[in-house]
Amino acid sequence: MHTDTSPTILITGGAGFIGSHLATELLQHGYGVRILDNLTPRVHGPERHRPNHLDPRAKVIVGDIRDPHRLLEALDGVDAVIHLAAVVGERSSMYRIEKYMSVNTTGTAVLLEALLDHPIKRLIVASSSAVYGEGLYCSYNGTVYPKIRRSPDRVARGDWEPRSPDGEVIYPLPTPETKEASPLSVYAISKYDQEEMCRLIGELYGIPTTILRLFNVYGPHQGYTSPYSGMLTEYASRLLQDLPVRLFEDGYQQRDFVSVYDAVRAFRLALESPGAARRTFNIGSGRPYTFRTVADLLATITRRQRLSPEVTGTGRIGDIRHCTADISRAREILGYDPKVTLEAGLLDLVAWVEAEIAQRQKVPAPLEVPKSSRLPV
Ligand SMILES: NC(=O)c1ccc[n+]([C@@H]2O[C@H](COP(=O)([O-])OP(=O)(O)OC[C@H]3O[C@@H](n4cnc5c(N)ncnc54)[C@H](O)[C@@H]3O)[C@@H](O)[C@H]2O)c1
Repeated sequence: MHTDTSPTILITGGAGFIGSHLATELLQHGYGVRILDNLTPRVHGPERHRPNHLDPRAKVIVGDIRDPHRLLEALDGVDAVIHLAAVVGERSSMYRIEKYMSVNTTGTAVLLEALLDHPIKRLIVASSSAVYGEGLYCSYNGTVYPKIRRSPDRVARGDWEPRSPDGEVIYPLPTPETKEASPLSVYAISKYDQEEMCRLIGELYGIPTTILRLFNVYGPHQGYTSPYSGMLTEYASRLLQDLPVRLFEDGYQQRDFVSVYDAVRAFRLALESPGAARRTFNIGSGRPYTFRTVADLLATITRRQRLSPEVTGTGRIGDIRHCTADISRAREILGYDPKVTLEAGLLDLVAWVEAEIAQRQKVPAPLEVPKSSRLPV
């Protein structure tokens, strides 16, 4: 229970998918929660309402992260900041370049300047596995490849697996924090900017700073347009409406899908662990899954096994092949131990999507490939 002496945490972007779950997690553990969020229409719809599922005890200040006056109001009396506010997504960042750099990079710069006059005990920044680009790979004979890019020509021919510079097929490994960053989108560049600025300013001004590189977080209240795991919401929605799931490439791409409940616990642990300051952590489930596996699990849960997935056999510009997390550092230093199995997490997700469809509110009819995209599919 929150008392006047409980620490107050400011969550920027706290009305979004992860932020709303994080608010609940922190309130349940006795923290006071304040949120600064501009309720951006892409996430919150044209009416820009406070989400109904957001815990009523969380105080929301509606404002832009780039507005220093709103920030000063939001920072008054807070003990720590968890910085989530961002425009999210890799593909649209390739044509909305200014928007991504403005909100993510400049927004973080404005936050850091405001913190110079408002000492806090901890700054936690939500970064992304996107900063890695492709994950870590090794060859059959054990050579490790920390900075691989797929050749667009090969991808166009349906030759999906990354290859070494000699053309040899290579294999994905769990990716540790020590792997070199290799951002492949403007979004990933902006997330890496956030990391680097926060590390530098945190070090210089003595703000204990922690970076969490989130992998593919999924769970209830995630819109199907979310670039990370929104496809799980979309898959569930299509299956429940008797439509097959659509898989890009051959469906054997590997990702690390982590339940939002595990992800928000990691934020709380980062807030509470003395060893977390000045460190970067991968936050995932630690398990690789292919899109096919997830589609099959969802078909079983929704009892739609008869609907075989549609495999498009086409790649999308900018998509990586494999990236999954090595979470040993988070296990060791934060005591992070993911508890939600993929099966349990997907059951929960399907129950939420089913309820949404029943209410005909947030999940409209399944989408075709977004027409707004100015990138070739
Ligand atoms: N969802 C994932 O799997 C995932 C993976 C890696 C990293 N992340 C990072 O986690 C954070 C939260 O992601 P999410 O999935 O909850 O996204 P989301 O889009 O649901 O939430 C982002 C929130 O930020 C707010 N926002 C956007 N622009 C703003 C601005 N200019 N000023 C103030 N608020 C603004 C939005 O209104 C929204 O409520 C982001 O920083 C994202 O880069 C998410």
